Amino acid sequence: MQSEVLRVSTDLDQAAFQRAAAVLAADGLVAFPTETVYGLGANAFSAAAVARIFAAKGRPANNPLIVHIADVAEVGRVAADWPANAARLAEQFWPGPLTLVLPKRHEVPNAVTGGGATVAVRVPAHPVALALLRASGYAIAAPSANRSSRLSPTQADHVMRGLGGRINLILDGGPTAGGIESTIIDVTTKRPRLLRPGLITMAEIEAVVGNVDRPVMTAKIATPMAAPGMLEGHYAPRAPLECVNDEGMARVAALCRSGVRVGWVRLSPLEANGSSGSMHALTRPDIGHEAGLADPPGLFAVELPNDPAAYAASIYATLHEMDDSGVDRIIVDWPPETDKWLAVRDRLRRAAVK
Ligand code: TXA
Ligand code: MG
Repeated sequence: MQSEVLRVSTDLDQAAFQRAAAVLAADGLVAFPTETVYGLGANAFSAAAVARIFAAKGRPANNPLIVHIADVAEVGRVAADWPANAARLAEQFWPGPLTLVLPKRHEVPNAVTGGGATVAVRVPAHPVALALLRASGYAIAAPSANRSSRLSPTQADHVMRGLGGRINLILDGGPTAGGIESTIIDVTTKRPRLLRPGLITMAEIEAVVGNVDRPVMTAKIATPMAAPGMLEGHYAPRAPLECVNDEGMARVAALCRSGVRVGWVRLSPLEANGSSGSMHALTRPDIGHEAGLADPPGLFAVELPNDPAAYAASIYATLHEMDDSGVDRIIVDWPPETDKWLAVRDRLRRAAVK
């Protein structure tokens, strides 16, 4: 299969959305940008279409999918109940990077929910995602548009490299702004439960619904959370990734001296609170010299902003770029153990598991 790519920017690109809607109507697969990462979409109510998602990704059948809808008013198409906490959170954060786990309607195919009694739902905020939902009229089941256990895509070319030839269409809406996946909250229990930290922080969630149960997440090698499919080794680049505390420079220099090509994701020493520090990823070719390495140093150093949201926006793209450049090993400075870095630490911990 040849994967078609259509560039889209606004919902004015009607020809592209009509084409995408036709692909979905034929049980095909369409990759599209959301405000978090690119998703791989299919008609959520077609078990045959959903089966193709699992085949294209090489995803285990027991790992359920998130269903995307155009508006909170559509939640009744997929969910059998709408608890008060769900309403409060949706009111505050939809459209946006929050996924709610709800009791499922029995019409939702078991393939979507991994055979479970709940369904994960979100209303995305990206104009291209919303235009696709509206043009097609479907509820769209969409995991991240990567091969299972690999890094999530934040650009159309990441999707093409991972799934090119395996899917029908990619809507290229440019790089995604958020950079990591949505926060997932289970609202089927009396006290809401965090299943996956993400772009919406725990402070933001708890300001709306009070205390949320959450798994203990401490050391970088801690056991991953017990959400189905939250397997070890998710979100991993090709090159083995290692997190380091403050001995980054020494570790990197030692590896480089032994001939290993290293990608180093440094945390900017400057706190990026608006005025001071950069809000973008910076390539730092000078670092090799600082570390006393020979020329060329065999080092690809990138400095990421010392701000969780800005860091999240760049981390996957940086890891993709390092993989593409052919590094043997990736070293990442471990971010602070504070709550606002929870989602970033979660993704790095998973990327580091081998
Ligand atoms: O930002 C995002 O959430 C992106 C964009 C495309 O929306 N999607 C995404 O999907 O990250 P995926 O499939 O890569 O990750 C969804 C996670 C999986 O770990 C899955 O196990 C969990 O959500 N999940 C889905 N349905 C669930 C359910 N009913 N109960 C518990 N966990 C569920
Ligand atoms: Mg994923």
